[in-house]
Amino acid sequence: MEELARLADTAEAEVVDTFVQGRSRPVPATFIGKGKVEEIKAEADRQSVGTLVFNDNLTPAQARNIAKMTHCNVVDRTELILDIFALHARTKQAKCQVELAQLEYNYSKLRNLWQHLSRIQGGIGTRGPGEKQIEVDRREIKKKITILKDQLKVIEKETLVKRSKRSDYLSISLVGYTNAGKSTLFNRLTKEDIYTADKLFATLDATSRALFMEGRENVIVTDTIGFIDKLPHTLVSAFHSTLIEVDEADLLMHVVDISNPVIMDYIHSVENVLKELKVDGKNILMVFNKTDRLKTVQLAFLKKKLLGIYPHAVFISAAFDENLDELTERILYFIEKQKKKITLEVPVALQNIISFLYDNATVHEKAYDEEKGVFRIVATVPREFIPSIERQIEAYRVDHL
Ligand code: GTP
Repeated sequence: MEELARLADTAEAEVVDTFVQGRSRPVPATFIGKGKVEEIKAEADRQSVGTLVFNDNLTPAQARNIAKMTHCNVVDRTELILDIFALHARTKQAKCQVELAQLEYNYSKLRNLWQHLSRIQGGIGTRGPGEKQIEVDRREIKKKITILKDQLKVIEKETLVKRSKRSDYLSISLVGYTNAGKSTLFNRLTKEDIYTADKLFATLDATSRALFMEGRENVIVTDTIGFIDKLPHTLVSAFHSTLIEVDEADLLMHVVDISNPVIMDYIHSVENVLKELKVDGKNILMVFNKTDRLKTVQLAFLKKKLLGIYPHAVFISAAFDENLDELTERILYFIEKQKKKITLEVPVALQNIISFLYDNATVHEKAYDEEKGVFRIVATVPREFIPSIERQIEAYRVDHL
């Protein structure tokens, strides 16, 4: 419920009151009990409240019934999240994805409503005008969904081209529960300012920039959308393309708000999303952020506990620039680790590659192959350099066939 309040705040609504009801199962017509609805209505009237937000998803009939009884606008959790997404979508791709998710959610709601009406009206021969309207709406929504999907395909292709141009780079993706401090850390690491706000989902589009590190121009950091529990299913698929960056990353930095009282729940929920995306086998560096918000004793206790689970974890305060050097060192260590033993056939004319390898890699073997006119070299090379070396050799080969 606390998170729902924060979501509402992010959607620019002011939370006036919170109600909780324990029941073994929902009331079919109104989700919560009738008495509870009346209690809420009385409070809403007293405080002139116009909107009720439910933490669970309601059926269209339930939402309608509650709205009728309370004279309030009724919003469920999915609609609230969709609304926030719509508010924060900045690129064409994100806007398209949000609109698509909204339409798909409306479409499924209308389908439920139609089924509901069929049941009460007895189906064929008893169709009222309301139902006809719903069918027209459904057809229109379906048409719009098709158009949007086509548009998205075009946009995704463009993005793919942009990404392939970056294959020479090593990439790091920041992932984490929404509001963990990813954008703040991203700004520190790249020394640039993007939009950060104490609002959930402030980042809706993956944003990539070069990592600011002495002598390292080819590491790209990507800030991704905040993960959240119970993310509506339509959204997971609609946003999958934003998370392709995560799929392609060489390193994931999982940013966690260490001051969160339910820290392990949030960590597990992010880990579950990573599992769903099938990227849980990647190198993951745990970064515990907002250490400034804890007292020394409390921090020491948590550190000990968390290091027991994540021995390579780093503890930082992105906002106060604390311990970022250690984080950078850890990133460097990781980059150094990313080396690969390869065998290359380097044409004699490409002396520059050979001297480059001696300067930047470990050369294990070098033998001249007279027949082919190439040096056969076995070397352990930092992964980031491999694509460009291979491209140069290939280009030379094509030119001199
Ligand atoms: P989403 O875009 O919603 O996924 O959030 P995010 O993970 O990118 O978080 P963001 O960087 O926007 O930070 C959320 C809030 O936490 C902002 O108000 C930041 O100022 C604050 N914050 C970030 N890092 C720290 C920190 O080290 N200490 C403290 N005290 N606050 C921080």
